[in-house]
Amino acid sequence: MSLIYKLKTAQPTFLHGVHDYLGEIQPFAERVGNPLLKVPMVALKSLEWAIYRWHKTPIRRFYGVKGNELIYMITNACNDRCPKCAIWERPESRAERLSLERFLVCLRRLHQNLYQVTLTGGEPLLFKKDVLAIAEEAHRLDVPMVTITNGRFIDQEFLETYKNFGHILVISVDSVQRDKWNEFRGRKNFDIVMPKILLAREILGDRLRIQSVLSVESEAEVEKVIEWCRERRIQHNTQMYQDFGTTFWRSTATPQQMVEDPTPCAARKNICVYPNGDIVKCFDHRRIPVAKTPLGNIADQDIIEILSSKRSVEVSRAMKTCNLPCKSMSCNKPQVELFK
Ligand SMILES: C[S@@+](CC[C@H](N)C(=O)[O-])C[C@H]1O[C@@H](n2cnc3c(N)ncnc32)[C@H](O)[C@@H]1O
Ligand code: SF4
Ligand code: SF4
Repeated sequence: MSLIYKLKTAQPTFLHGVHDYLGEIQPFAERVGNPLLKVPMVALKSLEWAIYRWHKTPIRRFYGVKGNELIYMITNACNDRCPKCAIWERPESRAERLSLERFLVCLRRLHQNLYQVTLTGGEPLLFKKDVLAIAEEAHRLDVPMVTITNGRFIDQEFLETYKNFGHILVISVDSVQRDKWNEFRGRKNFDIVMPKILLAREILGDRLRIQSVLSVESEAEVEKVIEWCRERRIQHNTQMYQDFGTTFWRSTATPQQMVEDPTPCAARKNICVYPNGDIVKCFDHRRIPVAKTPLGNIADQDIIEILSSKRSVEVSRAMKTCNLPCKSMSCNKPQVELFK
């Protein structure tokens, strides 16, 4: 039912306790509709709150599933120009970027509750040194890592180092035909990247995965990618096209069809970090009224304090029943549904 974080900081004061109690009980009491049930429900809730405080102090908790995925959008910048994606249009300045050290602090703080750290972007391998430093620390902390890349900057040295950490590399491929590849990437780099994918298969073995985006434009090509992967025994995942701020590609399903699927959104497991260190619970947070602005920023705040705040609890709660097309993104699905 809840997440429990061990907080290795100083013991909280009495005032912290009062604040924590009210922050949790007040919104709970407001949600109990039946006036006759208010008192008994608040009493039970208070008992539950007290057990958690007594059980292990100091602790912080907030509602969510146990086991988080920390997803770091390490940069908006990219060396490709895919028409399906507009992230590359808003590269952050050097001054805006979160320092590597602050991300590592966040990773260390959360590692006991992480089942995975995922690096995405923009193009993560524009910051290859940082990716390898995070991979090394994740390995040391025993947290599995996944890096999603367009593959352009992988090379033998990177692959061999990455392999030693035991992590997974996902390369995005929407076509295995030269012309379509070049059209889908907005860059003529099929002949550069394809040999790198084959090298990655050789070095990483089944730790190499391929992901494709399914849209009206890519549908026929994605079928061929799946076949290409099957022949090489590479696990593949298909991600439904979403509106990433461009109008060049179109979805194969209507928004209505996407939300008719009864599978609930699993994004409550996520702790998402923007390139500047802003924290959100899902990258589509602006669609949730209470989550429009970030929950905090790890450049100068502690991640557990951010996640334990009253608003984080509220956001996590609102996400329980959120049902929007973005739930079909891979990062918002349970892990078991990905890469077959
Ligand atoms: C935004 S990219 C960042 C990582 C890296 N640059 C890459 O392309 O793999 C992360 C994943 O999102 C996918 N993607 C890009 N645009 C998308 C869209 N409009 N809808 C759904 N997925 C998209 C990419 O193909 C990739 O697999
Ligand atoms: S999908 Fe990835 S490779 Fe393509 S433009 Fe977006 S960030 Fe770059
Ligand atoms: S449906 Fe979309 S906005 Fe709602 S919680 Fe899931 S990812 Fe976030």
